[in-house]
Amino acid sequence: MDVFSLATAAYVVAALLFILSLAGLSKHETARGGLSFGIAGMALALVATFMVVVDVSADRDEVLPVVLLLVAVVAGAAIGLWRARIVEMTQMPELIALLHSFVGLAAVLVGWNAYLEYRDRHWRLGDLAGVHDAEVFIGVFIGAVTFTGSIVAFLKLSGRMRSSPLMLPGKNYLNLGALGLFVLLTIWFVADPHLWLLVLVTLLALALGWHLVASIGGGDMPVVVSMLNSYSGWAAAASGFLLNNDLLIVTGALVGSSGAYLSYIMCQAMNRSFISVIAGGFGIEAGPADDTEYGPHREIDASDTAELLKNAGTVVITPGYGMAVAQAQYPVADLVRKLRERGVDVRFGIHPVAGRLPGHMNVLLAEAKVPYDIVLEMDEVNDDLADTSVVLVIGANDTVNPAAAEDPSSPIAGMPVLRVWEAENVVVFKRSMAAGYAGVQNPLFFRDNTQMLFGDAKERVEDILRAL
Ligand code: TAP
Repeated sequence: MDVFSLATAAYVVAALLFILSLAGLSKHETARGGLSFGIAGMALALVATFMVVVDVSADRDEVLPVVLLLVAVVAGAAIGLWRARIVEMTQMPELIALLHSFVGLAAVLVGWNAYLEYRDRHWRLGDLAGVHDAEVFIGVFIGAVTFTGSIVAFLKLSGRMRSSPLMLPGKNYLNLGALGLFVLLTIWFVADPHLWLLVLVTLLALALGWHLVASIGGGDMPVVVSMLNSYSGWAAAASGFLLNNDLLIVTGALVGSSGAYLSYIMCQAMNRSFISVIAGGFGIEAGPADDTEYGPHREIDASDTAELLKNAGTVVITPGYGMAVAQAQYPVADLVRKLRERGVDVRFGIHPVAGRLPGHMNVLLAEAKVPYDIVLEMDEVNDDLADTSVVLVIGANDTVNPAAAEDPSSPIAGMPVLRVWEAENVVVFKRSMAAGYAGVQNPLFFRDNTQMLFGDAKERVEDILRAL
């Protein structure tokens, strides 16, 4: 069997391993096995590709392609290992967004390369010339949208850019106009493949990607990251067509469709319109700036919080991003243990998008050995909050904002939230009165039954432990 047939067989096996990997990743219990399938598939794909490059280079008596491939693999593996080791859990979404931007950039480069390769011998493509040109054009478009869109997502998630939506006048018409122009340019390019048309569509797609993600507000960012994941899959599939690589087509389609499905279920969980989010906040208009005077807020200190907890019958803890930043899960787990020893009924209420990635809070609490049966989902705990003596909101903000339920003009209106304000007492742990990720004010802080416990969440929980 020649090397090409062997490589094709290896690609089919790798594609199957990727499918098994996705199936494994869909459940906690099988996730580790799923990762192993993914690693095996990727290793097989790399070895097969390496064999093909060595074979072709040997036929042509060239060494350079093998050296270039080795340098790329070693450099990529070294950077990947280094980043994966140092990345904090809280930085995971921004790292993923950055990786998506690389896939987009690669698709643009592959498209450009495919165009330049046949520029002077276009006639050689024969009847397939039109198909080839369409693949180039569409691949470059999807890749460029993914590239700038992912960079904006990275900048927003890492706090280097404001998370509130960019509201250009007629933003929906800008997006629709760009899509319409893309269709016209594609037809033109297939009829007459000029270089300037490719330059134009690259610039158009770079601007569209930037605008689409910049127009989406902070609250919808989780959906945007999974949507960009989907786009990066389609970009990889487009590259697969150009490079005649079946594995890239299959893998791209797997990533593209699973990313789209994840975006869809996340939209359902957050009560958001899927179409509106993927179309760059289509139909979401800026509400009036929130200049409501909410009046004064009340403060509490750690020893009074300890008193409150000692006398409580039921306590619910709703953690958020601030608990992850402060790494407060360990003292929080100690606090839970102490209170339970005293006979207090303590449970956790976890919002589906608390933190910065799905399941963020569950992983932190499991790490700190909090018993799994007291960690409840938002829907399991919401109806019990009205009968709860004390709710501790530890580093959460948007996920407990009553404006989402009560103020139709709020940018997060309609998003399901933990109804903590219904409890008898609410203690909010945070460092200041600053807004949460979505950048909106939280009226909870000014309610009569709410008291603010300012400072780093870990230090304040340790203070409470000492007072207990
Ligand atoms: P946020 O709304 O971001 O609020 C976190 C709060 O923690 C902030 O108000 C901050 O207030 C406080 N904080 C930060 N560091 C702290 C520290 N060391 N000690 C004490 N408090 C600290 O978080 P949330 O309620 O978890 O909501 C999540 C938000 O992120 C949602 O808007 C969601 O859409 C978005 N998001 C979620 C995901 C996923 S998939 N889960 C991904 C991206 C974005 P101070 O600055 O005053 O301390």
